[in-house]
Amino acid sequence: MASEPGLVAARSFSTAIPLRSKVAVLGAAGGIGQPLSLLLKTNPRVTELGLYDIVNTPGVAADIGHINTLSNVAGYTAKDKDGLKKALQGAELVVIPAGVPRKPGMTRDDLFNTNAGIVRDLAQACAEVCPKAKLLIISNPVNSTVPIATEGLQEGRIFGVTSLDLVRASRFIGAKLDKVVDVPVVGGHAGITIIPLFSQVEGLKLTEEERAALTHRVQFGGDEVVKAKDGLGSATLSMAFAGARFADSLLRADAGEEVLEWAFVKNDLFKKEGIEYFSTYVKLDKNGVKEVLPLPENISEYEKELVKAAIPELLKTQTKGEQFVNGKQ
Ligand code: NAD
Ligand code: LMR
Repeated sequence: MASEPGLVAARSFSTAIPLRSKVAVLGAAGGIGQPLSLLLKTNPRVTELGLYDIVNTPGVAADIGHINTLSNVAGYTAKDKDGLKKALQGAELVVIPAGVPRKPGMTRDDLFNTNAGIVRDLAQACAEVCPKAKLLIISNPVNSTVPIATEGLQEGRIFGVTSLDLVRASRFIGAKLDKVVDVPVVGGHAGITIIPLFSQVEGLKLTEEERAALTHRVQFGGDEVVKAKDGLGSATLSMAFAGARFADSLLRADAGEEVLEWAFVKNDLFKKEGIEYFSTYVKLDKNGVKEVLPLPENISEYEKELVKAAIPELLKTQTKGEQFVNGKQ
Protein backbone atom coordinates (compact mmCIF):
# COMPACT_ATOMS: atom_id res chain seq x y z
CA MET A 1 0.00 0.00 0.00
CA ALA A 2 3.00 2.32 0.15
CA SER A 3 1.94 3.67 -3.24
CA GLU A 4 -1.49 4.90 -2.07
CA PRO A 5 -1.13 8.64 -2.60
CA GLY A 6 -3.72 9.84 -0.09
CA LEU A 7 -2.20 8.11 2.88
CA VAL A 8 1.34 9.01 2.04
CA ALA A 9 0.53 12.64 1.41
CA ALA A 10 -1.64 12.83 4.49
CA ARG A 11 1.22 12.01 6.83
CA SER A 12 2.33 15.58 7.20
CA PHE A 13 0.71 18.91 6.54
CA SER A 14 1.09 20.10 3.00
CA THR A 15 2.40 23.66 2.71
CA ALA A 16 1.14 24.57 -0.79
CA ILE A 17 -0.98 27.70 -1.36
CA PRO A 18 -3.18 28.40 1.62
CA LEU A 19 -6.76 29.36 0.74
CA ARG A 20 -9.12 30.97 3.21
CA SER A 21 -10.26 28.10 5.36
CA LYS A 22 -12.16 28.48 8.57
CA VAL A 23 -12.21 25.43 10.80
CA ALA A 24 -14.56 25.16 13.77
CA VAL A 25 -13.82 22.79 16.64
CA LEU A 26 -16.80 21.87 18.85
CA GLY A 27 -15.65 20.48 22.17
CA ALA A 28 -12.47 22.53 21.82
CA ALA A 29 -11.63 22.73 25.53
CA GLY A 30 -11.55 18.95 25.97
CA GLY A 31 -8.79 16.37 26.00
CA ILE A 32 -8.88 16.02 22.20
CA GLY A 33 -10.15 19.51 21.47
CA GLN A 34 -7.15 21.35 22.91
CA PRO A 35 -4.28 19.53 21.17
CA LEU A 36 -6.36 19.25 17.99
CA SER A 37 -6.92 23.02 17.99
CA LEU A 38 -3.19 23.50 18.60
CA LEU A 39 -2.31 21.32 15.60
CA LEU A 40 -4.87 23.11 13.43
CA LYS A 41 -3.29 26.43 14.45
CA THR A 42 -0.01 25.18 13.00
CA ASN A 43 -1.64 24.18 9.69
CA PRO A 44 -0.91 26.88 7.09
CA ARG A 45 -4.17 26.07 5.28
CA VAL A 46 -6.23 27.21 8.26
CA THR A 47 -6.85 30.94 8.29
CA GLU A 48 -9.45 31.10 11.04
CA LEU A 49 -10.24 28.86 13.99
CA GLY A 50 -13.62 29.03 15.71
CA LEU A 51 -13.41 27.19 19.03
CA TYR A 52 -16.57 26.24 20.86
CA ASP A 53 -17.17 24.34 24.09
CA ILE A 54 -19.68 24.64 26.88
CA VAL A 55 -16.82 25.92 29.13
CA ASN A 56 -13.22 27.17 29.10
CA THR A 57 -12.84 28.00 25.42
CA PRO A 58 -11.76 31.65 25.87
CA GLY A 59 -8.64 30.50 27.74
CA VAL A 60 -7.79 27.91 25.09
CA ALA A 61 -8.32 30.47 22.32
CA ALA A 62 -6.20 33.13 24.10
CA ASP A 63 -3.39 30.63 24.63
CA ILE A 64 -3.37 29.10 21.13
CA GLY A 65 -3.99 32.54 19.62
CA HIS A 66 -0.46 33.64 20.60
CA ILE A 67 1.15 31.10 18.28
CA ASN A 68 2.72 33.02 15.42
CA THR A 69 1.02 31.42 12.45
CA LEU A 70 -1.23 33.57 10.26
CA SER A 71 -4.62 32.27 11.46
CA ASN A 72 -6.96 34.10 13.83
CA VAL A 73 -8.53 32.28 16.75
CA ALA A 74 -11.77 33.03 18.57
CA GLY A 75 -13.24 31.06 21.47
CA TYR A 76 -16.89 30.91 22.48
CA THR A 77 -18.78 29.16 25.23
CA ALA A 78 -22.43 28.28 25.75
CA LYS A 79 -22.69 31.48 27.87
CA ASP A 80 -21.88 33.75 24.90
CA LYS A 81 -24.88 35.01 23.01
CA ASP A 82 -24.93 33.02 19.77
CA GLY A 83 -21.54 31.54 20.72
CA LEU A 84 -22.08 28.33 18.77
CA LYS A 85 -23.34 30.21 15.73
CA LYS A 86 -20.36 32.56 15.80
CA ALA A 87 -17.93 29.65 15.99
CA LEU A 88 -19.65 28.00 13.01
CA GLN A 89 -20.26 31.05 10.81
CA GLY A 90 -18.33 30.65 7.54
CA ALA A 91 -16.69 27.35 8.53
CA GLU A 92 -15.52 25.03 5.75
CA LEU A 93 -14.75 22.25 8.21
CA VAL A 94 -16.39 21.48 11.54
CA VAL A 95 -14.60 18.98 13.74
CA ILE A 96 -16.67 17.51 16.58
CA PRO A 97 -14.88 15.89 19.53
CA ALA A 98 -17.62 17.05 21.98
CA GLY A 99 -18.93 14.52 24.45
CA VAL A 100 -17.86 12.18 27.20
CA PRO A 101 -15.02 9.66 26.87
CA ARG A 102 -14.89 6.07 28.20
CA LYS A 103 -13.73 4.88 31.59
CA PRO A 104 -12.31 1.38 32.17
CA GLY A 105 -15.00 -1.31 31.80
CA MET A 106 -17.15 0.77 29.42
CA THR A 107 -17.82 0.15 25.75
CA ARG A 108 -18.12 3.02 23.29
CA ASP A 109 -21.83 2.20 23.05
CA ASP A 110 -22.14 3.01 26.78
CA LEU A 111 -21.48 6.65 25.77
CA PHE A 112 -24.51 6.70 23.47
CA ASN A 113 -27.03 8.09 25.98
CA THR A 114 -24.92 11.18 26.65
CA ASN A 115 -23.23 11.76 23.31
CA ALA A 116 -26.10 11.08 20.89
CA GLY A 117 -27.97 14.22 21.95
CA ILE A 118 -24.79 16.34 21.96
CA VAL A 119 -23.91 15.31 18.40
CA ARG A 120 -27.50 15.71 17.17
CA ASP A 121 -27.73 19.27 18.54
CA LEU A 122 -24.32 20.32 17.22
CA ALA A 123 -25.01 18.81 13.78
CA GLN A 124 -28.35 20.62 13.65
CA ALA A 125 -26.58 23.89 14.40
CA CYS A 126 -24.19 23.16 11.51
CA ALA A 127 -27.15 22.44 9.21
CA GLU A 128 -28.54 25.87 10.08
CA VAL A 129 -25.37 27.98 10.08
CA CYS A 130 -22.95 26.29 7.66
CA PRO A 131 -24.87 23.61 5.71
CA LYS A 132 -22.07 23.24 3.16
CA ALA A 133 -19.36 22.59 5.72
CA LYS A 134 -17.80 19.17 6.01
CA LEU A 135 -18.44 17.56 9.38
CA LEU A 136 -15.79 15.40 10.98
CA ILE A 137 -17.36 13.33 13.74
CA ILE A 138 -14.96 12.14 16.41
CA SER A 139 -17.46 11.75 19.28
CA ASN A 140 -18.19 8.13 20.15
CA PRO A 141 -19.83 5.81 19.45
CA VAL A 142 -18.88 6.84 15.88
CA ASN A 143 -20.85 3.92 14.38
CA SER A 144 -24.02 5.53 15.76
CA THR A 145 -23.13 9.25 15.95
CA VAL A 146 -22.46 9.46 12.20
CA PRO A 147 -25.99 8.28 11.27
CA ILE A 148 -27.27 10.80 13.83
CA ALA A 149 -25.27 13.67 12.34
CA THR A 150 -26.38 13.08 8.75
CA GLU A 151 -29.88 14.32 9.53
CA GLY A 152 -30.44 17.54 7.55
CA LEU A 153 -26.94 17.63 6.07
CA GLN A 154 -25.53 16.52 2.73
CA GLU A 155 -24.33 12.94 3.02
CA GLY A 156 -21.09 13.41 1.07
CA ARG A 157 -19.99 15.96 3.63
CA ILE A 158 -20.26 13.87 6.80
CA PHE A 159 -17.24 11.87 7.88
CA GLY A 160 -16.81 9.51 10.80
CA VAL A 161 -13.17 9.89 11.74
CA THR A 162 -11.52 6.47 11.88
CA SER A 163 -8.00 7.73 11.19
CA LEU A 164 -6.79 6.81 14.67
CA ASP A 165 -7.29 3.15 13.69
CA LEU A 166 -5.10 3.70 10.62
CA VAL A 167 -2.48 5.50 12.68
CA ARG A 168 -2.44 2.65 15.21
CA ALA A 169 -2.27 -0.09 12.58
CA SER A 170 0.53 1.78 10.86
CA ARG A 171 2.47 2.15 14.10
CA PHE A 172 2.00 -1.44 15.27
CA ILE A 173 3.27 -2.78 11.94
CA GLY A 174 5.84 0.00 11.67
CA ALA A 175 7.31 -0.98 15.03
CA LYS A 176 7.72 -4.53 13.73
CA LEU A 177 9.22 -3.52 10.37
CA ASP A 178 11.10 -0.50 11.72
CA LYS A 179 9.60 1.78 9.08
CA VAL A 180 6.42 3.76 8.58
CA VAL A 181 3.94 1.85 6.43
CA ASP A 182 0.34 2.53 5.49
CA VAL A 183 -2.18 -0.08 6.62
CA PRO A 184 -5.76 0.26 5.39
CA VAL A 185 -8.44 -0.15 8.05
CA VAL A 186 -12.09 -0.54 7.02
CA GLY A 187 -15.48 -1.15 8.66
CA GLY A 188 -16.39 0.95 11.66
CA HIS A 189 -14.86 2.32 14.83
CA ALA A 190 -15.60 -0.11 17.67
CA GLY A 191 -14.08 -3.49 18.56
CA ILE A 192 -14.71 -6.15 15.92
CA THR A 193 -16.05 -3.58 13.43
CA ILE A 194 -12.47 -2.24 13.10
CA ILE A 195 -10.86 -4.30 10.32
CA PRO A 196 -7.17 -3.84 9.50
CA LEU A 197 -6.25 -5.15 6.04
CA PHE A 198 -2.73 -6.42 6.62
CA SER A 199 -2.95 -8.35 3.34
CA GLN A 200 -2.58 -5.00 1.56
CA VAL A 201 0.83 -4.19 3.04
CA GLU A 202 3.44 -5.03 0.46
CA GLY A 203 6.08 -7.46 1.65
CA LEU A 204 4.47 -8.00 5.09
CA LYS A 205 4.64 -11.60 6.26
CA LEU A 206 2.76 -12.59 9.41
CA THR A 207 2.17 -15.96 11.00
CA GLU A 208 -1.45 -16.77 11.82
CA GLU A 209 -0.76 -16.04 15.48
CA GLU A 210 0.89 -12.70 14.70
CA ARG A 211 -1.95 -11.71 12.39
CA ALA A 212 -4.58 -12.56 15.01
CA ALA A 213 -2.69 -10.73 17.76
CA LEU A 214 -2.11 -7.61 15.64
CA THR A 215 -5.71 -7.57 14.42
CA HIS A 216 -6.91 -7.78 18.02
CA ARG A 217 -4.52 -4.99 19.05
CA VAL A 218 -5.84 -2.64 16.35
CA GLN A 219 -9.45 -3.54 17.18
CA PHE A 220 -8.94 -2.95 20.88
CA GLY A 221 -6.17 -0.33 20.82
CA GLY A 222 -8.58 2.19 22.34
CA ASP A 223 -9.02 -0.07 25.40
CA GLU A 224 -5.25 -0.12 25.91
CA VAL A 225 -5.26 3.65 26.32
CA VAL A 226 -8.42 3.71 28.46
CA LYS A 227 -6.83 1.15 30.79
CA ALA A 228 -3.51 3.02 30.98
CA LYS A 229 -5.28 6.33 31.72
CA ASP A 230 -7.05 4.52 34.57
CA GLY A 231 -10.26 6.52 34.75
CA LEU A 232 -8.90 9.78 33.33
CA GLY A 233 -10.34 9.27 29.84
CA SER A 234 -9.36 7.76 26.51
CA ALA A 235 -6.96 8.57 23.68
CA THR A 236 -6.61 12.33 23.24
CA LEU A 237 -3.13 13.14 21.91
CA SER A 238 -2.94 10.41 19.26
CA MET A 239 -6.54 11.26 18.32
CA ALA A 240 -5.64 14.93 17.94
CA PHE A 241 -2.77 13.91 15.64
CA ALA A 242 -5.02 11.62 13.59
CA GLY A 243 -7.85 14.18 13.46
CA ALA A 244 -5.56 17.02 12.37
CA ARG A 245 -4.16 14.80 9.63
CA PHE A 246 -7.63 13.95 8.39
CA ALA A 247 -8.67 17.62 8.51
CA ASP A 248 -5.62 18.49 6.40
CA SER A 249 -6.69 15.94 3.78
CA LEU A 250 -10.08 17.63 3.52
CA LEU A 251 -8.51 21.09 3.35
CA ARG A 252 -6.26 19.95 0.53
CA ALA A 253 -9.27 18.52 -1.28
CA ASP A 254 -11.06 21.83 -0.68
CA ALA A 255 -8.18 23.61 -2.37
CA GLY A 256 -8.59 21.49 -5.51
CA GLU A 257 -6.30 18.53 -4.87
CA GLU A 258 -7.73 15.09 -5.45
CA VAL A 259 -7.08 13.31 -2.19
CA LEU A 260 -7.68 9.70 -1.14
CA GLU A 261 -8.54 8.89 2.45
CA TRP A 262 -10.16 6.15 4.51
CA ALA A 263 -13.29 7.29 6.29
CA PHE A 264 -16.62 6.10 7.71
CA VAL A 265 -19.11 7.52 5.20
CA LYS A 266 -22.51 6.74 3.75
CA ASN A 267 -22.25 4.29 0.85
CA ASP A 268 -23.82 1.29 -0.86
CA LEU A 269 -21.01 -1.24 -0.44
CA PHE A 270 -23.07 -3.46 1.89
CA LYS A 271 -26.52 -2.22 0.97
CA LYS A 272 -27.82 -5.78 0.60
CA GLU A 273 -26.99 -6.39 4.25
CA GLY A 274 -28.74 -3.15 5.28
CA ILE A 275 -25.50 -1.31 5.97
CA GLU A 276 -25.49 2.38 5.04
CA TYR A 277 -22.21 3.46 6.63
CA PHE A 278 -18.91 1.72 6.20
CA SER A 279 -15.36 2.98 6.39
CA THR A 280 -13.64 2.53 3.07
CA TYR A 281 -11.33 4.30 0.65
CA VAL A 282 -12.83 7.56 -0.63
CA LYS A 283 -11.77 10.09 -3.21
CA LEU A 284 -12.24 13.58 -1.87
CA ASP A 285 -12.75 16.84 -3.68
CA LYS A 286 -13.96 20.28 -2.68
CA ASN A 287 -17.51 19.00 -2.22
CA GLY A 288 -16.48 16.20 0.11
CA VAL A 289 -16.83 12.60 -1.06
CA LYS A 290 -16.30 12.43 -4.82
CA GLU A 291 -16.22 8.67 -5.11
CA VAL A 292 -16.49 5.73 -2.76
CA LEU A 293 -14.13 2.93 -3.70
CA PRO A 294 -14.89 -0.73 -3.02
CA LEU A 295 -12.72 -2.84 -0.76
CA PRO A 296 -9.58 -4.14 -2.48
CA GLU A 297 -10.46 -7.31 -4.42
CA ASN A 298 -7.54 -9.31 -3.10
CA ILE A 299 -8.26 -9.13 0.64
CA SER A 300 -7.56 -12.43 2.40
CA GLU A 301 -10.13 -15.03 3.45
CA TYR A 302 -9.33 -14.12 7.06
CA GLU A 303 -10.22 -10.47 6.34
CA LYS A 304 -13.40 -11.48 4.50
CA GLU A 305 -14.47 -13.34 7.66
CA LEU A 306 -13.72 -10.23 9.75
CA VAL A 307 -15.97 -8.19 7.45
CA LYS A 308 -18.75 -10.78 7.80
CA ALA A 309 -18.43 -10.75 11.58
CA ALA A 310 -18.61 -6.93 11.68
CA ILE A 311 -21.84 -6.59 9.69
CA PRO A 312 -24.38 -7.48 12.43
CA GLU A 313 -22.69 -5.15 14.93
CA LEU A 314 -22.53 -2.31 12.38
CA LEU A 315 -26.19 -2.81 11.58
CA LYS A 316 -27.18 -2.76 15.24
CA THR A 317 -25.29 0.45 16.05
CA GLN A 318 -26.38 2.16 12.82
CA THR A 319 -30.02 1.34 13.57
CA LYS A 320 -29.64 2.65 17.10
CA GLY A 321 -28.44 6.00 15.73
CA GLU A 322 -31.18 6.16 13.11
CA GLN A 323 -33.88 5.33 15.67
CA PHE A 324 -32.56 8.08 17.91
CA VAL A 325 -32.97 10.75 15.22
CA ASN A 326 -36.40 9.36 14.35
CA GLY A 327 -37.46 9.69 17.98
CA LYS A 328 -37.76 5.92 18.50
CA GLN A 329 -34.91 5.61 20.99
P1 NAD B 1 -13.23 15.30 27.12
O1 NAD B 1 -14.25 15.06 28.19
O2 NAD B 1 -11.83 15.55 27.54
O3 NAD B 1 -13.68 16.52 26.21
C1 NAD B 1 -14.96 16.63 25.69
C2 NAD B 1 -15.33 18.09 25.63
O4 NAD B 1 -16.64 18.19 25.06
C3 NAD B 1 -15.38 18.77 27.01
O5 NAD B 1 -14.55 19.91 27.01
C4 NAD B 1 -16.85 19.14 27.16
O6 NAD B 1 -17.05 20.36 27.87
C5 NAD B 1 -17.27 19.27 25.70
N1 NAD B 1 -18.71 19.23 25.50
C6 NAD B 1 -19.63 18.46 26.11
N2 NAD B 1 -20.85 18.75 25.65
C7 NAD B 1 -20.69 19.71 24.71
C8 NAD B 1 -21.59 20.42 23.87
N3 NAD B 1 -22.90 20.22 23.92
N4 NAD B 1 -21.08 21.35 23.04
C9 NAD B 1 -19.74 21.58 22.99
N5 NAD B 1 -18.84 20.94 23.77
C10 NAD B 1 -19.33 20.01 24.62
O7 NAD B 1 -13.29 14.05 26.12
P2 NAD B 1 -12.23 13.67 24.99
O8 NAD B 1 -11.20 12.78 25.54
O9 NAD B 1 -11.82 14.92 24.27
O10 NAD B 1 -13.16 12.77 24.02
C11 NAD B 1 -14.22 13.34 23.32
C12 NAD B 1 -14.98 12.29 22.53
O11 NAD B 1 -14.14 11.75 21.49
C13 NAD B 1 -15.44 11.10 23.33
O12 NAD B 1 -16.74 10.74 22.95
C14 NAD B 1 -14.46 10.00 22.94
O13 NAD B 1 -15.00 8.72 23.11
C15 NAD B 1 -14.24 10.33 21.50
N6 NAD B 1 -13.03 9.76 20.89
C16 NAD B 1 -13.12 9.30 19.61
C17 NAD B 1 -12.01 8.81 18.96
C18 NAD B 1 -12.12 8.32 17.54
O14 NAD B 1 -11.22 7.62 17.09
N7 NAD B 1 -13.14 8.67 16.80
C19 NAD B 1 -10.79 8.76 19.62
C20 NAD B 1 -10.72 9.23 20.93
C21 NAD B 1 -11.86 9.73 21.56
C1 LMR C 1 -10.14 5.18 20.59
O1 LMR C 1 -10.17 4.33 19.71
O2 LMR C 1 -9.10 5.42 21.24
C2 LMR C 1 -11.36 6.00 20.88
O3 LMR C 1 -12.48 5.53 20.19
C3 LMR C 1 -11.62 6.20 22.33
C4 LMR C 1 -12.06 4.95 23.03
O4 LMR C 1 -13.07 5.00 23.72
O5 LMR C 1 -11.38 3.93 22.93
